[in-house]
Amino acid sequence: MANILITGASSGIGAELAQRLSSRGDSVFLTGRSEEKLAALACGAHLAADLTAPGSAEKIVAAAVEKFGSIDVVVHCAGIGLIKPAADTTDAEFTQVMNVNTRATFLLMREACKVMGAAKKGLFITIPGILGKAPMRNASAYVASKYAVTGMVKCFAQEYQRSGLRFCLFHLGGVDTPFWDKIQMAVQRDKMIPVSTAADLIQQAIDAPPHLVLSEVVMQPESHQLV
Ligand SMILES: NC(=O)c1ccc[n+]([C@@H]2O[C@H](COP(=O)([O-])OP(=O)(O)OC[C@H]3O[C@@H](n4cnc5c(N)ncnc54)[C@H](OP(=O)(O)O)[C@@H]3O)[C@@H](O)[C@H]2O)c1
Repeated sequence: MANILITGASSGIGAELAQRLSSRGDSVFLTGRSEEKLAALACGAHLAADLTAPGSAEKIVAAAVEKFGSIDVVVHCAGIGLIKPAADTTDAEFTQVMNVNTRATFLLMREACKVMGAAKKGLFITIPGILGKAPMRNASAYVASKYAVTGMVKCFAQEYQRSGLRFCLFHLGGVDTPFWDKIQMAVQRDKMIPVSTAADLIQQAIDAPPHLVLSEVVMQPESHQLV
């Protein structure tokens, strides 16, 4: 079984993965800001941290390596939403969404890849979502942050090509998680991708043979399919 670092493990897709991977025997190292929510999951080891704080990525990666000896897989689920017309989006909101979704992803990926690169094996999974691949009105800041993730991951994949590291992008449409509790937009949660389905797909990427990689996965509700 694998040593798996999961960010954004205190909620939604990350929490679902933490529970299912831990119960099948993987060693999971969980992170998120909420100590209380991470502790309540009662699986694996955890370290509460804000990924945007200086030194957080280094601390999290070092703590996971200290706990398990190595990192085989990173599932990077930490992220925040922002759905607002451009005219109403403040500088502070734009900066925050870029800081959490883009800059923190870069810092974590850079640190994790140093460790996995030295081991010449590892899988880094990110979830830019469908808005890291297709634009949507009233989401310019969020879309900017997620397109940037898509581009960065593709660059890392080229930099680490033939070094045993694999990179996977999940372009999921709306997933029914607490992510939507904080978004002011009329949505049909019952038509979204169930969180268990999102976790099934990510588990398939983790379980792919080590010489193969599921590079990009797109899943949308039928009503929103891309052609
Ligand atoms: N739900 C969707 O429809 C959907 C669709 C496509 C892509 N995505 C992406 O998938 C990922 C997971 O989404 P989700 O639906 O599971 O969202 P969620 O339930 O809101 O969970 C987000 C996670 O990110 C963590 N987080 C937020 N800011 C952080 C920070 N500064 N430092 C560390 N951790 C932070 C949160 O933990 P704390 O609050 O404890 O810090 C939480 O565990 C996100 O990147 C999201 O953009 C979601």
